[in-house]
Amino acid sequence: MEKLVIHGGVELSGSVTISGSKNASLPILAATLLTPEPCTIRRVPDVSDTNYMLQILTSLGAQVERSSGVVRVCAESIHSEAPYEIVRKMRASICAMGPLLARLGKASVSLPGGCVIGDRPIDLHLWGLSELGADVDMEGGNILVEAKEDGLVGREIDLAGKHGSTVLGTDNVMMAATLAKGTTVVDGAATEPEVIDLANFLNGMGAKIDGAGTSRIVIEGVEGLQGTEHRVIPDRIEAGTFLVAGAIAGRDVELVGTGAEHLQSVIGVLERCGCPIEVSDDRIKVSSPDDPRGCNITTEPYPGFPTDMQAQMCAFFAGATGSSVVTENIFPQRFMHVPELNRMGADIELNGSSAVVHGVPTLSGAPVMASDLRASAALVLAGLKASGTTEVNRLYHIDRGYENIDEKLMALGARMKRVKV
Ligand code: EPU
Repeated sequence: MEKLVIHGGVELSGSVTISGSKNASLPILAATLLTPEPCTIRRVPDVSDTNYMLQILTSLGAQVERSSGVVRVCAESIHSEAPYEIVRKMRASICAMGPLLARLGKASVSLPGGCVIGDRPIDLHLWGLSELGADVDMEGGNILVEAKEDGLVGREIDLAGKHGSTVLGTDNVMMAATLAKGTTVVDGAATEPEVIDLANFLNGMGAKIDGAGTSRIVIEGVEGLQGTEHRVIPDRIEAGTFLVAGAIAGRDVELVGTGAEHLQSVIGVLERCGCPIEVSDDRIKVSSPDDPRGCNITTEPYPGFPTDMQAQMCAFFAGATGSSVVTENIFPQRFMHVPELNRMGADIELNGSSAVVHGVPTLSGAPVMASDLRASAALVLAGLKASGTTEVNRLYHIDRGYENIDEKLMALGARMKRVKV
């Protein structure tokens, strides 16, 4: 196990290159199962979640090669059973289900385990696949989906749930529908940029998908899909995290390799808090304001404020002037970072699915425990400005989704060290 020891109070400056999107890469890698032909995917971030996905593909029989951001997958001969030992490590494994069902007519994927950010059901995935004509069963902790005799058949499916749309649920149904007979219409579809990236990849394979990025996606089934090449979009959550790092402790921190297109809500909130931000085509520059102000945010599906940036904003608000109300609409229990930030001197009260952050003049370094990916990012951000030393334990959480975050922060001037424990 490793921990990150951060010496706070150093001003960050310089440029940081944003990696490819983890959350776009995962379903795109799973989608390679839809064709026996080789696919090449560029700008795949080297993080543990993409490694788990490649392990799943390998365990299903695919040939996988990876070298510095380029992944080649050839799923010529595959079987339909994704093993528990790998699936349990990552909830996104569930998005192997749609492609396996479409290609092989059946899939067996272990039910993903519990999740620290709260209840994460998969009922909408299963409902969508059953609407396409799959029988769904549960056996020994595995979900079994199997197409009826006629195969999958397109139809109109409303995928909206009580918390709005589902990103991976939309992905799963869209992938399964590419090879179904006839036309599938997904209403209540997720509109996240990662869904558009997957649709672009699938269309590159020969799928016929229209409307990705809107709440109504139309998929006309095709007989088969081919191999293709694709470059994954930049990671908007990694970019947002570095924007908050600059907003907390930076002077002219420049993000390279990402435009502002997918970051409007985050940039809007930081500007409301007084942060100077300059945007050009593929660069964004941010500095910490002299008097950072708090504001209220509510997480929503895209293009609203992303739940995956909520914890990082709490770290910013903790040291800003005034009180900020943070309301979590997507995962109402996603506040594991709050008690840890309070250990660093923050003043945050939890009230149901809201946190009220009363800004304090300074945070003080402390040993803290990372509990999930974005919560651990929030603790690292808080440690950048805190007085003294912060130790973020259980660093493996952050390595799931941030490529070399410590090296990137150190290149901006941060003082930190990864230490084995
Ligand atoms: N939901 C249901 N039923 C379902 C599926 C989802 O009720 O069958 C609910 C969830 O409980 C939640 C809401 O719908 O309240 C949205 O969940 P969604 O399905 O969209 O989440 P996801 O697809 O499993 C992806 C990201 C998450 C991100 C969410 C929301 C990936 C691999 N994961 O998860 O990313 O928080 O969308 O934007 O794309 C992260 O990167 O840290 C992360 C957790």
